[in-house]
Order: sequence, then structure tokens, then C-alpha cells
Amino acid sequence: MRRVLAGVLATSVVAGLVTLAAHASPRAAAADEPVVVVSSTFDDGTAQGWTARGGEVAEPSTAVARGGTHSLAVSGRAQSWQGPTLNLLDKAQKGIRYDLSVWVRLAAGEAATQARLSVERRTAGTPSYDQVVGDTAVTADGWVNLRGSYTLAADVDFLSTYVELASATASLHIDDFSLSYTPLPPIQTDIPSVKDVLADHFAVGAAVEGAQVLNNHGQLVAKHFDSITPGNTLKWDATEPTEGAFRFTDAETLVAWAKANGAAVRGHTLVWHQQTPAWVFKDAAGNDMTATPENKVLLLSRLEAHIRGVVGHFGDDIPVWDVVNEVVDENQADGLRRSKWFEITGLDYLRTAFRVAREVAPNARLVINDYNTNVPSKRDKLYDLIVKLRAEGVPIDAVGHQMHVNVQWPSLTETEAMLAKFVPLGIDQQITEMDVSIYTDNSQSYPTPPADVLLTQAYRYRDFFELYKRYSENISSVTLWGLADDSTWLDSFPVTRKDHPLLFDTRLQAKDAYWGVVDPSRIGGPTSTTTTTSTTTTTTTTTTTTTTTTIVPPAPCTVTYTIGSQWQGGFHGEVRFTNQGTTPLVSWSLDWSFADGQRITQLWGGVHTQDGSAVRVRSASWNGMVPPGGSVSFGFLASWTGQNSKPTEFRFGVAPCRTG
Ligand code: XIL
Repeated sequence: MRRVLAGVLATSVVAGLVTLAAHASPRAAAADEPVVVVSSTFDDGTAQGWTARGGEVAEPSTAVARGGTHSLAVSGRAQSWQGPTLNLLDKAQKGIRYDLSVWVRLAAGEAATQARLSVERRTAGTPSYDQVVGDTAVTADGWVNLRGSYTLAADVDFLSTYVELASATASLHIDDFSLSYTPLPPIQTDIPSVKDVLADHFAVGAAVEGAQVLNNHGQLVAKHFDSITPGNTLKWDATEPTEGAFRFTDAETLVAWAKANGAAVRGHTLVWHQQTPAWVFKDAAGNDMTATPENKVLLLSRLEAHIRGVVGHFGDDIPVWDVVNEVVDENQADGLRRSKWFEITGLDYLRTAFRVAREVAPNARLVINDYNTNVPSKRDKLYDLIVKLRAEGVPIDAVGHQMHVNVQWPSLTETEAMLAKFVPLGIDQQITEMDVSIYTDNSQSYPTPPADVLLTQAYRYRDFFELYKRYSENISSVTLWGLADDSTWLDSFPVTRKDHPLLFDTRLQAKDAYWGVVDPSRIGGPTSTTTTTSTTTTTTTTTTTTTTTTIVPPAPCTVTYTIGSQWQGGFHGEVRFTNQGTTPLVSWSLDWSFADGQRITQLWGGVHTQDGSAVRVRSASWNGMVPPGGSVSFGFLASWTGQNSKPTEFRFGVAPCRTG
């Protein structure tokens, strides 16, 4: 429900109320109710604080209006960056996630072009431009909504939002701009800290951007994680955008936060084929480098200077570095990615990077990091590369498995083989960027994540962490690529859609995925299991019946249990398990309890354990995959005496299956 304020703001007394809302403390507002800080309708016939960015004309107009009587017209443009702008300096606060929305339409007669919505901020005079909504098609025929969110992470002395066009000259209108935010509920303080639960096994971390160490987000990081990985601020484009001009402010903010909160920092990353500025690969004459001996010398010297600059700057504050990132390509016979680094220097960029990093930070742990390291061909090529380089004396201390996985892929067997492969090397292993996408292919997109998919995700987290624990001798840290589902790189990779890959939801509350890691017996939680309490009190005069029912998601499975044949003391049982969810399963496990002391003596089509009356059957290595609507069967021989009644309840994890 929107607060009344939001509606009132659209009236003619807008200006006064806007100021009021802008200065209202976010803490005073109720959680989950959007608060509108600015609303610009232009219907009072003024520009309501909007101006032109530079030289062009911005004025109220009645030529078109999306609602009411007026819009804001912008004409006389000569540069694509020119457009309407609004000063937000006194309106937006650091660490609050704002929603920005504006409607755009071209002036009559203009040819179709593209519009985008951005924020310009300046700290100590240095401007940064952040895109809120990317290029979006606009025409003169109708209104198009640009809508996105933005969190200010740094202290600024200038802050504005603006609309610009791909066309340098087209005139445009904007209308119904709003800046709003939805206060978050407090973080849960009465649940176990992930880092405490896993303290005996390995350190746990999360990748963060500057905004995620502020307010509720910062509290959540501090409560649950031993370390942070700056998600972007230590990459080359952030630290050395132009040669020799290092920029450390954003990373320093994170390092300082970590120090103040007793967290460690993972350095990510020194050498990568992405997010590396173009100047790095220009030759002495300013042209694109080709593979010549001179260019090799130049490139390696830039690499050395970069590592000295960055690693040297942070010293012992960053005790572990992803020195090189994603250098393996299993489709090459030699396993080496054809990046510019490789094309110009061969293997020498790897040798130089590790050598220099060790020299500058002798105590730091040096990691070779990559994705899809579970894929056998890639895993083996990475292994061969590490063996080769280490034999030469290249100081590689650890292998980083990114673990960007999903609810279906990869199998646990393959993931275990990934870990097992490197054990004989005696090398440290780290899980560096784990997230579990709810999508299994690029065509999927859910408006809201289906309950059964989130449940499957929770079991995946449970199973992966169980596996990591079994290898905890070899794994020093497990890092998640993000903090909560409100902000994840998977919202725009590999396609744009809302993903929910982490342990906390968009309101920073613990998901079933969190319980999968912390206490799997609580997957499904109190709101998703049936609780029916029936109290009947009878006196001579009144009868009261109270029934409390909590909503249960549809059963994720159906089980049929058949006694095929039965003889004195023994019987043959068959169980058929059907996946009623919308996601394929990669493994399954079924629990039931025998009422009459039956004991399984032999089982096929699964792996069983029996503890007293409690039976658990897990999928075999070959029949874990069950598509939505698909079934698997297993059979067994068991003993019985006295009676042989059928089990009444079967559970998949904690979720009860329908019996059919
Ligand atoms: C991602 C960041 O999370 C995004 O914000 C950025 O736009 C692109 O890079 N593998 C890596 C990380 O090693 O550096 C990537 O991070 C995710 C994939």
C-alpha cells in the first residue's frame, strides 16, 4: 500500500510537500511502504526545479501531457548529453536504494531514437556517471517509461539525475518523474550467523559494492560474513583507468569498513580479459597492440607497474588476491584463453603476475581463479596449467572455483570430482563467487520466483555446503557473489531478468537457501509447513473450536508405495516418486518411517539407510535427474513380522509428498 503522501504530492501544493518528504527520516517510515521523495508532474505550470543540462531550453508545455495538463519540454539541443536534469543533492541519502521513474516522449515530428536515465555525481570535483536505465527506444507517438533503481554509496558534493538521447538534436518531453524508496524491515538478529555455523570448516565471504556496507546491508554483511570481496572496485578499470593515475577511493572505503568490522578482504582481480581499460593494449604509438617483442615488453611492464601499484597500495590489508581470472579455455588444445594478454605475451603474463604479486605482498595468498571448473575438460586443463607453472616455480597458492551454478547444474558428483581433482596437488582451494541461479536456460523469466524452485535452490545450497564441509581440509574459504537478492549481477547476465540466487531475499530476510546452509531441517520454514491445531472445549453451555491453518505450497512430489508380493517374514516393495514441481531435480531423497518394524535388506534404484524405523532413500548416481512431471522408481526387499502396514507419509526434504 502506498502512503497517502504519494497521492497528495501530485496536487498543486507539490513543492512544499516534496521538501517535507525529502527531509523525513527514512527510519521513521514503515517498512515496505513506498515513500515518494520527489514527484514532478509540471501541472502547476512550473518546471518544478528541472533545468536544462547545458545551453538548451527546458520549459513547461501543454503540447502533450501524460496526465494532467503539462509536461516539461526540452528543445534546442545540440549534444546527445543535453537534456532535462534535476538536482538531487538534498533529496537522496547515501545507502538508500531509490526507485526512479520518468516518462519520455519525443516532440511531434521527431524521428525515433533512444533515451536513457542517468545520475551524475561528483566527489571533490571528480564526476562519475551512473546509468540507471540504459538505451530505450522512444518515439513521438507515445510515452515510454524509464524506471530503475539507484543507491548512492559515496559522499558527494553534486548529485543530479538527467535524461539524455542517442540523437544529439531531437526535442523531447518528460512527465511524471518520481523518486521514491521503500524502507527495509530490520535485519533478523535472532538467527544464527552463517560464519559462526561454518567456523569449524572454512571462512565465508560475500562480494559487495560500496552501497552494501551501509545501513541494513552493512549490518547483514557484518553479522554473517568473515570477509568481503569488492565486486568491481579493485578491477583494473576502477583502480587504474588511465596509465599511472591510480584511483583507490572506492576500494579504500571497503577496506576501511572491513577493518572496522573485523572482516578480511579478498582482492579481486589483478589480471582479466574484461574490465581492463583500452590504454593497456595500445602500443607506443597509440595503436592497438599486435604481437611484437616490443609490445610484449611494454605490456608486461604495464602489468608489473599495475600490480606494484595496486597490491603495494593495500599491503597486508588484502591477504588474498585473485591474481589472474578466467585464463583457461578448454576449447583450445593448449587450454589457454586467447586473450590479448595471451596473444601478446604467451604464458609470460601469468608468470609475471604471480612473481610480482609475491614480491610486493609476500604474505598474501595468490589465487588462480576461474568459472566452470567443474566441467571435466576445463578442470583438467586448469590442473595441467597449475602443475606446469608450479613446476617452474610460479607461486600459485590456491585455485579459485567461481561456482556460478544453478538449481539444476552441475551435479554434485561433478562438483565433487572438481574438488577431488586438486587434492593431490596439496593446493588450497577456495570457492570464490558462488551463486545459484533460479534459471536453467536463457529463455526463462519468472515474475516472482516459484516456491518449488526456491525450495530446490535451498536443497542445492544444502548439498553443496555439505560437500564443501567434507572437503574442508582442502577449502579455506567459500564466498558468495553478492549479499542478497536485491542486487545481483545475474539480473543482467546472461540476459536481463530478475534472478534470486543468494541466501537473503530482496528485503534482506533469510531465505530457505539460508537455512539450507545453516540448518537444513528448517528448510520450508514455519510459514510453509502445515500446522493445524484443533482445540475443542466442551462445557455444559458452550463449544469452541479453533483451527489455525498456515498456507502450504503445493506438494512438490507424489509417491506411490506398492507391496508387490509378500510371504512369511518378507516382502517386495516398489516406490514410484514423481516430481510435481516446475524445476528439474538433479538429485532426490525420500524419507519415511515404518510403523511395524519392517527392515529393508536390499534396495535397487537408489541408496538407502535405515535407522530404527526411519528410512531414507537417496537417488543413485544415474537417476537423480527427474524433469518436471517425470518419475523414478526403486524397489526393495524387506522383512516384516506381525503386520506390514504401508507408510502413511513420505517426505522430500521436509516437504511432504502426496501419496497416490
Ligand atoms: C561481475 C560483477 O559482479 C558485475 O557488477 C560486473 O558488471 C561484471 O562483473 N566472474 C568474475 C566477476 O570473476 O568479476 C564478475 O563480476 C562475475 C563473473
